[in-house]
Amino acid sequence: MVRLFLTLSPAISRLSFLAAASPSLNRLQRHHFDKLKPKISLISPSSSASNFQRTGSSCSTRTIRVSSSLPKSESSKLDDGLIVLGIETSCDDTAAAVVRGNGEILSQVISSQAELLAQYGGVAPKQAEEAHSRVIDKVVQDALDKSNLTEKDLSAVAVTIGPGLGLCLRVGVQKARRVAGAFNLPIVGVHHMEAHALVARLVEHELSFPFMALLISGGHNIIVLAHKLGQYTQLGTTVDDAIGEAFDKTAKWLGLDLRRSGGPAVEELALEGDSNSVKFNVPMKNHKDCNFSYAGLKTQVRLAIEAREIDGQCPVSSATKEDRRNRADIAASFQRVAVLHLEEKCERAIEWALKLEPSIKHMVVSGGVASNQYVRFRLNNIVENKNLKLVCPPPNLCTDNGVMVAWTGLEHFRVGRFDPPPPAIEPDDFVYDLRPRWPLGEEYAQGRSEARSMKTARVHPSLTSIIRADSLQQQTQT
Ligand code: KG4
Ligand code: ZN
Repeated sequence: MVRLFLTLSPAISRLSFLAAASPSLNRLQRHHFDKLKPKISLISPSSSASNFQRTGSSCSTRTIRVSSSLPKSESSKLDDGLIVLGIETSCDDTAAAVVRGNGEILSQVISSQAELLAQYGGVAPKQAEEAHSRVIDKVVQDALDKSNLTEKDLSAVAVTIGPGLGLCLRVGVQKARRVAGAFNLPIVGVHHMEAHALVARLVEHELSFPFMALLISGGHNIIVLAHKLGQYTQLGTTVDDAIGEAFDKTAKWLGLDLRRSGGPAVEELALEGDSNSVKFNVPMKNHKDCNFSYAGLKTQVRLAIEAREIDGQCPVSSATKEDRRNRADIAASFQRVAVLHLEEKCERAIEWALKLEPSIKHMVVSGGVASNQYVRFRLNNIVENKNLKLVCPPPNLCTDNGVMVAWTGLEHFRVGRFDPPPPAIEPDDFVYDLRPRWPLGEEYAQGRSEARSMKTARVHPSLTSIIRADSLQQQTQT
């Protein structure tokens, strides 16, 4: 019997059991589930190079060879025969990838909305949705072509169902369901932040549960204790903005080129500046918890820019030498303090986590901001001082990508968490189960911040609570 999970269709009850498996599931069970015991092995990437193709909105492409650490003979021992297509459209990148059960990345394609980002100074949901819709078919087809496979070779399709922009999530989910429906494939709904964390297990074969993860992106800033697959305790989160948002606004106000997003532009300019020249206060110094706040630092940056009469409308490339120097000083000082805030909170979170789970050996740092070299260097010091090992995926797996979705899909699929193939044809107005506001873990009661602003928008029950409820239900049935 195959357990169902993360149902994408309201027509199918969530966490229900599939009594009469469809022919494809019977085939799937025969071919894959027999081979999948023990449930979760330590999976590693293979040695073979994988294809990484990034497609700009102008459709220029480049291919990067990404090598991984295990010899081919080793990886093939771990191969369970599964192959999953992952689709990601939660924000401004349209991404797809094909990944094998042994962690081999067979293909990876990303179409970024660089021009739109620069034009609107940030992500505009409607324009982002249209951009996803324009390229989604090509991105998925390119990922299949680059892997030299067809849909018939796939074991399942994984897709991000939240958190993210509802309009954007819908494009990916619709495409995933069309592919899965047409080829009778099971479908796995993926939590975007869990995917940022778990892709580290594809990269680092020693990374087993429990471990800690700091996940830093444009919209999220969370620190979690990962107990098991799908089970997370949230030690801290942001009370307002995420660090990536602060990088993006700083870049915009400093007149930087936003086509690669704000973070890389600030990181680059910071190399020219003096990081002690502008005095910014480290946020939440007096809060003895593991929560974050970047709204106040953003305001400090804006005020510093105004005080120096820097004109953000004037691109840094046209600035005078002195003006450029001023901008670089702000970039460097901002980056130092923004990261110091991460360092302080991580130190405390590691202490808390070790009390809860003394066997922890690793701390994962992932999400777009984790591609920043200064962030990686500073956090490595903190983590090593606490006798843990830092696991940071390579930069192109830290920023949004399809590999992390395919890999997380594989992890859940392997333990039987997936939905059956959707019908071959679904109406255009079909209501998908999308989760724009979807917490990853259960909040650690002692870590709750008094400074937390109470947002009123509807929040979906966390991934962890859904999985716990499912396990409980299972136990009572056996
Ligand atoms: O995870 P991600 O690709 O998308 C979201 O889930 O939000 O993260 C995007 C964020 C953006 O705010 C971007 O400016 C930031 O990650 N980022 C960086 C760097 N590369 C991307 N921030 C600082 N330094 C970087 N090198
Ligand atoms: Zn992300």
